[in-house]
Amino acid sequence: MFVRVNSIGILGMNSFEVGVEASIERGMPRFDLVGLPDTAVSESRDRVRSAMKNSAFYYPDGRVTVNLTPADIKKEGPMYDLPILVALLAASGQLSCELKDSAFFGELSLSGKVRKVKGALPMVIKAKELGIKEIYLPVANVVEASVVKGIDIYPVKNVRQLHDHLTGKEKINKFIVQPSQYEYRADPGFIPDFSDVKGQFQAKRALEIAAAGGHNLLMIGPPGSGKSMLAKRLPSILPDMTFEESLDVTKIYSISGDLPDNVSLIRSRPYRAPHHTISTAGLSGGGRIPRPGEISLSHHGVLFLDELPEFSKVSMEAMRQPLEDGKITISRVSGSLTYPCEIMLVCAMNPCPCGYFGHPTKKCTCAKGIPQKYMAKVSGPLLDRLDIHVEVPQVEFSKLSSEEKGESSAEIKKRVDKARKIQTERFKGTPVTCNAKMTPSQTAEFCKLTEAGKKILERCFESMDLSARAYDKILRIARTIADLEGSETIEVPHITEAVQYRSLDRKFWNA
Ligand SMILES: Nc1ncnc2c1ncn2[C@@H]1O[C@H](COP(=O)(O)OP(=O)(O)O)[C@@H](O)[C@H]1O
Ligand SMILES: [Mg+2]
Ligand SMILES: [Zn+2]
Repeated sequence: MFVRVNSIGILGMNSFEVGVEASIERGMPRFDLVGLPDTAVSESRDRVRSAMKNSAFYYPDGRVTVNLTPADIKKEGPMYDLPILVALLAASGQLSCELKDSAFFGELSLSGKVRKVKGALPMVIKAKELGIKEIYLPVANVVEASVVKGIDIYPVKNVRQLHDHLTGKEKINKFIVQPSQYEYRADPGFIPDFSDVKGQFQAKRALEIAAAGGHNLLMIGPPGSGKSMLAKRLPSILPDMTFEESLDVTKIYSISGDLPDNVSLIRSRPYRAPHHTISTAGLSGGGRIPRPGEISLSHHGVLFLDELPEFSKVSMEAMRQPLEDGKITISRVSGSLTYPCEIMLVCAMNPCPCGYFGHPTKKCTCAKGIPQKYMAKVSGPLLDRLDIHVEVPQVEFSKLSSEEKGESSAEIKKRVDKARKIQTERFKGTPVTCNAKMTPSQTAEFCKLTEAGKKILERCFESMDLSARAYDKILRIARTIADLEGSETIEVPHITEAVQYRSLDRKFWNA
């Protein structure tokens, strides 16, 4: 007898329809699994056989063939265990019910329990698109699936329970919740706040501008000056995510297997701070069992690279193109995968190995030329993606010990939100969302300078000896500063402030 059961597969961010076909014929007992299965899928055979026997089903005699369609897409992961088992039950006459409007996925334990799989959210979204009416999935995946409306979701504990449900013996309750009940928002009581930061007005201002325009940023300063402290507070002033952005982020965490069981939707922007010893695959994605890298886990949020020169050159170089494109493509033998990575990159570094190059009072103990060499460890193309450079000097003790509270994150966020609103209006109907991502033609259109502005910028270029590549960046930063002020035109003070954030373009570092 031949049967077909619906399932869903996933490759990178793309989910696709999978048909699980089973047929049982007379002959010597054997089990063939075809249709481009990887090792995890091939092992399904053993898990399904054991799960059937241990759940008091009889394992069919004869020649069992299971085919996964379409045959030209590689099937990865253990999620086909459950549909394979259902197909075998039906093909062997142990289950007779209509299956064409249902889909199944889940990994099986040898005892027949249904275990959590990665990527449930995009799979359920796909099932709904395909017009599937009922989806059966692991209990541990049910909360993330609940975001999808218009499809009946059945959490399955074990295969016996599923059989009882499908035969009408004992029904499983549909999972119905208010998804908002399970949304994840970072607890406001635990989000670090800018009011803790004493002094550091220029650095805070730079972070505000970066947040307002979506600019990547580099902080340079001696150890203990508060660079890490400042970076941690950046998420507290970023604009809230839209529902679509939240869904995108949640999908990535679903696929990487990092979504907690009790979370339906991530509403807080990601903040990731991988250590500099991370592998290139860990940072950009891929690996033997492919998964999104830190750069994609930071999608719509912040990726913080502390001690930037300590990251490997290969890792730094691997980030350049993705930063430009907002997505990362990973080549593999079985075809390439793409994950999104629209991020704000924030980096921090000491100015030299000892940490005190350019310090007003402490003496740098590095040999001549070493600070420049240290700076040169940062790959040029990556440095080129860092729009804002800001020096973070040590705060004097008197300021550190004062009781005075700085401005709160909530106050700063209000200004950021306002500036973002202007940009949303400006870029309506285009894929661009913020000033940092403007195309050259948009930069030309939206960053027109007055005569006075042109003159001042020219003078800055001469006196500060800025390189030509700084030009567009300064215009975009000045645009954001003007937006923060609610000014339609870019005025002289916006430009003079913007040029201050290009300190690394000066001869000083390049001597
Ligand atoms: N401006 C500041 N206001 C309040 N505390 C600060 C400030 N700068 C540094 N600190 C204190 O010093 C600690 C070390 O700062 P950190 O951010 O780790 O420095 P860095 O990353 O620049 O080496 C912080 O955790 C904080 O307690
Ligand atoms: Mg630090
Ligand atoms: Zn030094």
